Amino acid sequence: MWKPPEKIKYEPQPGAWPSKEQASESLWFSPVDIGPIQLEQRTWVPAMVPWRSTEEGIVTDEVLAWYERFAKGQPGCVVVEATGIREVPSGPLLRIGHDRFIAGLKELADTVHRASEGHTKLFIQLIDFLSIRRRPEAEKYFQRFLQITDAHREALGVVDWPEEKIREHLSTLEDEALDDILEERELESLRMGARERVTDTELDHIRDLPKVLPGLFADAAERAQKAGLDGVELHYAHAYTMASFLSRKNDRDDGYGGTRENRVRLPLEVYATVRERVGHDFPVGCRYLSDEIFEDGNDVEDAAYIGVELARAGMDFLSISRGGKFEDAKQPGIGEAAYPYTGRSGYECMPGHFSDEFGPFGRNIKPTAEIKKAVNAAGFDTPIVVAGGIHGFEIAEKILQNGEADIVASARQALADPDWFLKTRLGKGSEVRLCTYTNYCEGLDQKHKVVTCKLWDRVDLDQPDIQMSADGKRRLIAPDWQA
Ligand SMILES: Cc1cc2nc3c(=O)[nH]c(=O)nc-3n(C[C@H](O)[C@H](O)[C@H](O)COP(=O)(O)O)c2cc1C
Ligand code: SF4
Repeated sequence: MWKPPEKIKYEPQPGAWPSKEQASESLWFSPVDIGPIQLEQRTWVPAMVPWRSTEEGIVTDEVLAWYERFAKGQPGCVVVEATGIREVPSGPLLRIGHDRFIAGLKELADTVHRASEGHTKLFIQLIDFLSIRRRPEAEKYFQRFLQITDAHREALGVVDWPEEKIREHLSTLEDEALDDILEERELESLRMGARERVTDTELDHIRDLPKVLPGLFADAAERAQKAGLDGVELHYAHAYTMASFLSRKNDRDDGYGGTRENRVRLPLEVYATVRERVGHDFPVGCRYLSDEIFEDGNDVEDAAYIGVELARAGMDFLSISRGGKFEDAKQPGIGEAAYPYTGRSGYECMPGHFSDEFGPFGRNIKPTAEIKKAVNAAGFDTPIVVAGGIHGFEIAEKILQNGEADIVASARQALADPDWFLKTRLGKGSEVRLCTYTNYCEGLDQKHKVVTCKLWDRVDLDQPDIQMSADGKRRLIAPDWQA
């Protein structure tokens, strides 16, 4: 992953822990309404893909165990990982694009409600993504994938060469020469792997996204409701389809791109269709970005505008993330796919312990506060969720006291120690196992490997029935804690 050039190393800074009494009087452990329901606390575990479902996207025992473990820490809300809304294979990523997925998800909802003793609500993140190919071998790309055009012939000055000869010749050229011959997208397909964009409107299935996505999201949300989940989070963040509609990069000319008004149109239409389907008794919100963190991408002003429009439409919560885009992703190895969290925007999404003067903790607080200010000024009190490097009670409480957000989430800290909310609430903060933000977990995610935390492998190795990864090296679930 990209690191800020300053490479200043940071240790965790949790601040002081509260006593049980202080925790009970705090805002962080006080209830908040999410549309029609109430969370018992303003603590939240945002979506994290653990790569534990079957290849068909069905809930497994490992998926149940993963979420059960978070539920034991009794946060106000856990959001189930990005879950695919279509009938397309996506490896061991959960799916919800057909009724056959409902039974497993129902078991998941029951498991979390039972394990948290009814204290935790379970939402699910609904995702759509476009196709991305692995980076090809150059020879294969020139022989099989590249479509030879007149532009190539002209650039090479070989108008009468047969196609086969052009392909062979291209395979022999150095990078610099190819820069002058291939189009930008062709170079990208060669060097990064071909990646579809929402602006590829010459392709029928991309042009038709505004026609098909509202129905697909609504079907998925209805399945989540049938499965007994407590709400849905529409994934409008990071590198995926809906975020790409919101992006300044989206210059579609069919009313769904260009101006901010047009870029937010499909996200609003998706929301309206979902709402119509699930009714007003079921929470529907979304996750989107405070900043895309690449040149000419959305900034916090765009995000404030988007937030106001989503709130105006009636969303029940807005969860704010940051970065995580393909636009600045690193070049993948041959045979690997580009990963949207490898560039600077990836760093801003999941900041690691090597950082700049500001440090890795709370980088998303100020932009989130600006979004909240705009949403509130427009007359809406839609709860706003903030995340990013938060691993202490003091900072979480300060965010809420300052009115910078309404709910404070932690992903990696909750992964390192799923009991940290409970420990803090019971006045046992000193027992929290602190995340060191080395991003070992994120590296596993990147390789689509079963996600674990490296800290789990260092403690209580004599506990009975420890579940290990297939290679026997890693503990699959956080160690138990006896309150
Ligand atoms: C292993 C892993 C998987 C993640 N998967 C998702 C995901 O499915 N959807 C999502 O919106 N964010 C995902 N994220 C980002 C987190 O939800 C969160 O925004 C980010 O880690 C920053 O918060 P933190 O500093 O508290 O970890 C993931 C993060 C990690 C570490
Ligand atoms: S592996 Fe564990 S300690 Fe390291 S960043 Fe992930 S959650 Fe934190």
